[in-house]
Amino acid sequence: MSRVLVTGAAGLLGRFVVDELLSRGHQVRGFDRRAGKADIEWQVADVTDPAEVRKAVKGMEAVLHIAAVPNIWSGDGQTIMRVNTLGTYTVLDAAEAEGIGRIVFCSSDSVAGYTVREGRMLPPRHAPLGLEHPLQATDPYAISKILGEDLCRAYTLRGMSVVALRTVFVAYPEMAGEIVARAKDPAHYKGPAVGGPSSAGGGPLHHHIDPRDLARAFRLALERPMPAGAFERFYLSARVTLSPEPTLARLRRLHGDAVEVRDPSVYAREPFAPLYDLSHAARELGFVAEFDQRHLLAGLPGFENN
Ligand SMILES: NC(=O)c1ccc[n+]([C@@H]2O[C@H](COP(=O)([O-])OP(=O)(O)OC[C@H]3O[C@@H](n4cnc5c(N)ncnc54)[C@H](O)[C@@H]3O)[C@@H](O)[C@H]2O)c1
Repeated sequence: MSRVLVTGAAGLLGRFVVDELLSRGHQVRGFDRRAGKADIEWQVADVTDPAEVRKAVKGMEAVLHIAAVPNIWSGDGQTIMRVNTLGTYTVLDAAEAEGIGRIVFCSSDSVAGYTVREGRMLPPRHAPLGLEHPLQATDPYAISKILGEDLCRAYTLRGMSVVALRTVFVAYPEMAGEIVARAKDPAHYKGPAVGGPSSAGGGPLHHHIDPRDLARAFRLALERPMPAGAFERFYLSARVTLSPEPTLARLRRLHGDAVEVRDPSVYAREPFAPLYDLSHAARELGFVAEFDQRHLLAGLPGFENN
């Protein structure tokens, strides 16, 4: 059992993470610009305010840093850089001053560069894609997550242990309508089209993860035994995409032969396996996703046979 500060605790993901931690007996303090519904201690403040963050980390043993502008549609470049980058620095610095040894940082698969079309995206070099792949961020959000990881790494050099979770698009219950709307008319979907909090995401392969799985990954990262100074990064996704096309066929259609297939057996076993290498998280974090949302698409045109 640990005393854990969760930033962004009132957000779409934060509430799942808080529930997961409480269900396993952890003691949770929530930090956010607004209070959430969970029956925990809340501190309502801005994550870039050093005095407030210093207060928030008092007495805590770990921080799960989730607060951020969560995509390129939710803020301009200046806001994204300020909240995501300065916010991460503020949290790390306060945590170190408090003697906190463990941070779990909410990163994003966007660091690899293959997410949103609007941000001059580059095709991946190979599949499956793991930590060996270069970071090719081209939009402010993805860049802010790379900078956040760089900040985390700097603090591990000073003795903290940090896990950065590079999650794909999170398929919250609130996103179900958007996911279906995109699948019905992918060519014209611009989203949010049916009242969802943002556009159905996940890049050209329509990656996704269920928030219950992602919340469990946060808990596993919190509880993972790690030596002081260790820095771990994991790509996280459901075991299948939400795309109508099998992954290799879609990559070939979109990018010709540009994407080297390094391990065809992954896609022979599961044709809809994500771009990202999930074996690292399975091996090291003990994380394999239990849920996926393909059932939302059953029977829609293009999804009849899968
Ligand atoms: N939603 C996705 O598909 C997705 C994919 C990859 C990574 N992520 C990451 O997941 C995390 C959670 O995002 P989410 O989907 O829950 O979005 P969200 O907007 O619901 O949650 C973000 C939370 O951070 C809080 N916040 C924002 N700015 C703040 C500030 N200046 N001070 C204090 N609190 C602030 C918001 O109030 C909100 O509760 C983010 O770090 C995001 O980058 C999300």
